[in-house]
Amino acid sequence: MNYERSYQEYRDFDRDHIWHPYTQEKNAKANFLVKKAYEEFIEIIDENGDRKKIIDGISSWWVNIHGHCHPYIQEKIKEQLGQHEQVIFAGFTHEPAIKLVDKLLNFLPKTDLFSPSSNPRILSKAFFSDNGSTAVEVAIKMALQFFYNKGWHNKKRIITFTDAYHGDTVGTMSVGATDTFHHAFKSILFPVDRIDGPDKFLKNSKTKPISCEEKIFAEEQSLKALISEIEKRPNEHAALIIEPLVQAAGGMKFHSTTYLQKIREICNHFDIFLIADEVFTGFGRTGTNFACTQASIVPDMICLSKALTGGFMPMGLTFTTKEIYSAFYDDSRLKTFFHGHSYTGNSLSCAAGLASIELFEKEKRLEDVKFINMKMQDQLLKKDLCDLSIIRDIRILGAIAVVEFHTNDQHEYLSSIGPRIQEYFMKNNILLRPLGNVLYFLPPYTISNESLEYCLDKIRCFAYDLEKSVITLQR
Ligand SMILES: Cc1ncc(COP(=O)(O)O)c(C=O)c1O
Repeated sequence: MNYERSYQEYRDFDRDHIWHPYTQEKNAKANFLVKKAYEEFIEIIDENGDRKKIIDGISSWWVNIHGHCHPYIQEKIKEQLGQHEQVIFAGFTHEPAIKLVDKLLNFLPKTDLFSPSSNPRILSKAFFSDNGSTAVEVAIKMALQFFYNKGWHNKKRIITFTDAYHGDTVGTMSVGATDTFHHAFKSILFPVDRIDGPDKFLKNSKTKPISCEEKIFAEEQSLKALISEIEKRPNEHAALIIEPLVQAAGGMKFHSTTYLQKIREICNHFDIFLIADEVFTGFGRTGTNFACTQASIVPDMICLSKALTGGFMPMGLTFTTKEIYSAFYDDSRLKTFFHGHSYTGNSLSCAAGLASIELFEKEKRLEDVKFINMKMQDQLLKKDLCDLSIIRDIRILGAIAVVEFHTNDQHEYLSSIGPRIQEYFMKNNILLRPLGNVLYFLPPYTISNESLEYCLDKIRCFAYDLEKSVITLQR
């Protein structure tokens, strides 16, 4: 096969032989061919065969926090390549895994307002897997097997939230709730108890941005619903899983640190493990190392992936406590945690992960997040924008900016505004992939001031253009 092909040939081969994720291929345009990526930029060949530089406004599905191809991470992977690649992780261990876990032990949430100082909850045991979905599956299986090993066979239900998204494997689809993505598999998913999150109680809000009072009221309603669900099935719940502070794929919905703290308290009260799925929120995205850090809580399990390796290598990690681990530590081999993936503890992924965390110190990454946050607030939380009739809400947290538009579409994720957003921004050399009517901007933390201002300006322009076209249509 000749790899010196023309763009046209690559495009045809791709269309004929490669099936892309989350894409209705029948009406999708040809995929852009990536030639190079660096800093916040991706260089592509566009549909006309022209080379073009675009800004990655979603950190390539939320992974490239230090921009593309950061030289420090590149260097560390190269160093590790000279030592070894994948080596079986059962019966063997290696320095990159040990160094990464050691680094993470200090990086993880440590302060827990809700565990006694005499017996603090400490995330101290790491289990490696391959991606976000597997990091979550591992946590669910650990929680269920903990109670099984203890002989408490009733505790096997999981609590989750409406519009949660935890991945695409069968287990994570079960605890997820994105009907649009998973409706074809409903009959094979295991039953869970699903609680309405705060946004469900905010549907008819009239203020923009939504007022604090309304949000507090909505969160209280959601917590009441949670307690009432738990009380319906006393001692049956093994774990509650939550995307702390931000429900990401479900529409970039935020809740407060107070809400998260109350959930920690409720889980403590009813002896339910709290699983924090920080696959999206982890590694600075919400302004602190982790969302749980911001709320001063420590979950019983935390799931990590995505930005874990700075966007270089796939890897999942699930951390838990010694208490949970102790239920598996036994003379009986039947109490073993029978879970593992071929690429567990991949040394190149570990080297990338370690380098990525080192960059938080070396380059003061959280300061970058603070700067982005300030700029986002400055440009988007302006009265003129909030007052546009097509805007339902504007919200900003850490390095996440969300503009939610009104839509009449029944499936918000399939809203016709979505493709319109994507097309508009691509024309303006910015990659955005909205969640239906929800436009979100999630740049690498290293984005230059110039690119940042350009993207924020284009978001404002898009909202104005949309408003104008809707008003014209109504006339
Ligand atoms: C909160 C959360 N959990 C889990 C996942 C699944 O991660 P992956 O796509 O790596 O399987 C995602 C992916 O978007 C996510 O946002």
